[in-house]
Amino acid sequence: MKILITGGSGFIGSNFIKYWFKNHPEDSIINLDKMTYAANPRNLVEFENSPNYKFVKGDILDEKIVDELVSQVDTIVHFAAESHVDRSIDDPSLFVRTNVLGTYNLLMAAKKYQIKRFHHISTDEVFGTIELDSTDQFNESTPYDPSSPYSASKASSDHLVRSFFKTFGLPVTISNCSNNYGPFQHPEKMIPRSITSLLSGGKIKVYGQGLNFRDWLHVEDHCRAIEAILLNGKIGETYCIGGLKKGTSNMELVRLILKLMNKGEDSLEYVADRPAHDNYAVNWDKINKELGWEPKYDLESGMKQTVDWYTQNQIWWQETKKEAEEFYIKLNSLNK
Ligand code: NAD
Ligand code: DAU
Repeated sequence: MKILITGGSGFIGSNFIKYWFKNHPEDSIINLDKMTYAANPRNLVEFENSPNYKFVKGDILDEKIVDELVSQVDTIVHFAAESHVDRSIDDPSLFVRTNVLGTYNLLMAAKKYQIKRFHHISTDEVFGTIELDSTDQFNESTPYDPSSPYSASKASSDHLVRSFFKTFGLPVTISNCSNNYGPFQHPEKMIPRSITSLLSGGKIKVYGQGLNFRDWLHVEDHCRAIEAILLNGKIGETYCIGGLKKGTSNMELVRLILKLMNKGEDSLEYVADRPAHDNYAVNWDKINKELGWEPKYDLESGMKQTVDWYTQNQIWWQETKKEAEEFYIKLNSLNK
């Protein structure tokens, strides 16, 4: 395969490129990435001199670059996005441009060059929220009901992708995945923020009372799920991907981190809640039954590996941690 990966220098994209080359060394990859604050050039240094890998610094909104790169590949795996809910509350405009218009640009080029597969990486957040006391789960038939500008922009991009399948017969697949965690995740996100705060002598910031829940999936399991869809998924189909059988509350999550890092509850600080704070749980029966995929990591072993990685790779996160905490100070002052 000749694959165009968008957003390959971010968290999931860089894990995916590592995973793909390990398991499909004969394939070639072009990574188109704008290198926003969320990207880290250190993530992919090992491929710098590889003949099968090309990095292009550029924006998916740039029609010329997109056209030129799409003409060279047969497959697109589209990760590039503004991905952080709290930043979409601070400034939604870039989310609409990158996530909606950027996806549209890629779709137009994919149609022009009759790409064999356009795989769109999406999120469980498009489905909205589950009541706090409910055991419901999202699945492929759940109606879209996004809450944040981030999830609304991802929902819009999903609709566009599906419309290009229905109207133009573009061979698309879509995956709606739950919360990922693992190495190379930006320290603005809950799990790396919590681990790096404890490693820096600070406290974990818990939004509200910590009652909100999520489904958590190790990033390597997400990469395996995307591989299963690329190799055996049915054109035009959507697959929900999750790692657990039921939602895990943020309190359960932080207690696991505290236990693994030998800290007590005095290392928790309860802070103002996020507006429109959702809850998510995902039913991943379809991908399990149809493609034989299931997660390999359980939350405890995945979290231990993640804590170890952040402990051993402090140089990787120290600078971005500072920037992330500056962003949160600004956000909190705006919300006062
Ligand atoms: P991330 O923020 O870590 O990385 C995003 C990458 O996209 C960065 O490298 C950034 O530079 C690049 N990018 C942003 N705007 C761009 C543009 N206009 N042109 C080119 N590149 C651009 O995000 P992530 O957590 O790796 O998420 C990747 C994808 O997976 C996103 O589409 C996100 O919505 C989706 N997703 C993420 C999660 C999660 O838990 N992180 C879960 C489900 C789905
Ligand atoms: O569900 C998939 C989504 O997961 C992806 O689409 C997004 O790209 C990804 O960022 C993630 O979104 P969340 O909003 O769920 O992730 P975040 O890490 O920001 O927050 C996880 C939970 O932890 C959420 O309930 C809010 C809470 N939280 C977050 C932070 C940063 C805290 O309690 N304290 C914090 O400091």
